[in-house]
Amino acid sequence: METLNRYREILETLKANDNYRSFPESDSGNLLNLCSNDYLGLNSNKEFHDNFLAEFKRKTYKFSSCSSRLLSGNSIEHTKLEKLLADSYQSEACLLYNSGYHANVGIISALASKKDLIIADKLVHASIIDGAKLSNATVIRFKHLDYLHLENILKKNRKNYENVFIISESIFSMDGDIADLERLIELKQKYNCLLYIDEAHAFGVRGNNGLGCVEESQVINEIDFIVGTFGKAIASIGAFVICSNLFRQYLINHSRSLIFTTALPPINIAWTIYILKKLPELNQEREKLKSLSMQFAKMLNRETQSHIIPFIIGTNKNAIDKSIELKQNGFTILPIRYPTVPKGTARLRFSLNANMDIKQLIPIKNILKKQ
Ligand SMILES: Cc1ncc(COP(=O)(O)O)c(C=O)c1O
Repeated sequence: METLNRYREILETLKANDNYRSFPESDSGNLLNLCSNDYLGLNSNKEFHDNFLAEFKRKTYKFSSCSSRLLSGNSIEHTKLEKLLADSYQSEACLLYNSGYHANVGIISALASKKDLIIADKLVHASIIDGAKLSNATVIRFKHLDYLHLENILKKNRKNYENVFIISESIFSMDGDIADLERLIELKQKYNCLLYIDEAHAFGVRGNNGLGCVEESQVINEIDFIVGTFGKAIASIGAFVICSNLFRQYLINHSRSLIFTTALPPINIAWTIYILKKLPELNQEREKLKSLSMQFAKMLNRETQSHIIPFIIGTNKNAIDKSIELKQNGFTILPIRYPTVPKGTARLRFSLNANMDIKQLIPIKNILKKQ
């Protein structure tokens, strides 16, 4: 069909621009994986796996929920996990989502209406952008971490809208830098806004109990929506939002990615609970990750605020070539390209994990030196 040419042409253009995506072969485990979000190394913790499976044999959790939580998919495990998280954050309420993507898309689109304004950091994750697009709100982006710009937008626009949502990640997924939560709270209070913080890359990794940057900065109570995900440091699947009872009830009634989907399987929830109970005890892993990240960044002559260390290369082609060279030398690290990151900033995004040793990373320095 003639009309299908459009799709062929788009794929050809992506290929011509070195921006074509395909699934990489899954490696046999011989390469050192530098692009997984398994920050605490829990995905390969055999002791945890064995203990959980022993518990599973005693309790036999279901493998599927077979319907939405609003029908028969709501299990004891779902309720237990929400209570565990709400108690950990000493917050009124918690609501689970099937993934961080579901959470951001479903929460933002449900809460922000035509009368509202969403102001988001320029580099927030695609799921936040998609949630904002699906809402009927006006959307303005502020320059990355530029809170003067944010304040100027607020000064000019606050009066024209009913509710204003300020949205940021805490640790930014592709840059590893960190939002100034205190400053965001100050602005939220000054301009009477709602503050939404995505902790996908901080949950598990930061704070004395692993509750994220919000715990580290002791600001949990000041933030209206704290989103965390289980598919990264927690080595499970799913996501949650910490919020007030009012918002929880509203989301249960209006959040389409929660209502119109099969609930997470109880077996996954049980695994998440198992890991979360261990989370406060994992300070050694968190400290190890922190010192490894600093050592690695220093090796690359960079500074870092987190365990995500971007090495910006520029063109797609050069980023692909470096990734291939690193693979030939024993490392899995895929190039990150537009639209995940802005055009012209293709990069290698090193995400470290607490099981690594700096000695394993030494060869990378020389490979990256050759431009
Ligand atoms: C900041 C941020 N939020 C949300 C998500 C989506 O989370 P999930 O992988 O659980 O859908 C990601 C991960 O890709 C992310 O980086």
